[in-house]
Amino acid sequence: MPQAFQPSHAHPTSDAGDLIAVTCAGTRPNPYRFIHKALRVMLCQALLATGRLDADDAGERQRVVDEVERLLGCCADHLAHENHFLLTPLRERAPRAALAFQHDHAEHLESIDALRLLLQRLRDATDDAPALAQQLHLRLSVFVADNLPHMVEEESTQTQALWDHFSDAELAALLGALHASLSPAETATCVLWMARGLNTRELVQMLSELRQGAPAPVFAELAALVQQTVDAPRWATVARALGLPPVPGLMTC
Ligand SMILES: [Fe+2]
Repeated sequence: MPQAFQPSHAHPTSDAGDLIAVTCAGTRPNPYRFIHKALRVMLCQALLATGRLDADDAGERQRVVDEVERLLGCCADHLAHENHFLLTPLRERAPRAALAFQHDHAEHLESIDALRLLLQRLRDATDDAPALAQQLHLRLSVFVADNLPHMVEEESTQTQALWDHFSDAELAALLGALHASLSPAETATCVLWMARGLNTRELVQMLSELRQGAPAPVFAELAALVQQTVDAPRWATVARALGLPPVPGLMTC
């Protein structure tokens, strides 16, 4: 967690000056909101999977190890995107505002490396598999616990810093460059986990923005992914808002 400022997630006595309240009520672009909701689902789901893991079952052990490895890969990629597309531009205009987050990111990379070593030990485990699985559950708990307040600080303190130093058009350009840098597979992964984490209104916003920026066939594939992920009533609401066919299998746009 950033050490250079008072945590904005401490309980305030009023909304005045409280950056969580201010940024949650704000209407300006929040570069973190959607992807952080996706990451919270990934983090919590992987943590639960390590807790339930029957480590003597080699197949289940491999499945959970792979799930945690995918989580760590997403966290490392996300961190690199934040560094390149948000923190570096912010540092050029307000060096002190980026400092604590750079420090956090360096610590997170160390944690990711340590967890990957533990995953390898669990892959190679024999009789020690249950003990290593429990160790993974505890160390992943610490990693999740570090990431949750970090993301809150980014969605409040750092978002306010970005609002202070960048116009909406400049923020849109930064996010546009980030999204353009993603491979089709990375975009699909982000959309899949956002579909699991966003509320209905946010799903409509995400798909609207995708429709504006992506070729029609690409948008159709991503919309179908959302359709397959959310439940039917939710998709019906989203489809109605976007003017898309609500029945599975009829996605032709
Ligand atoms: Fe971050």
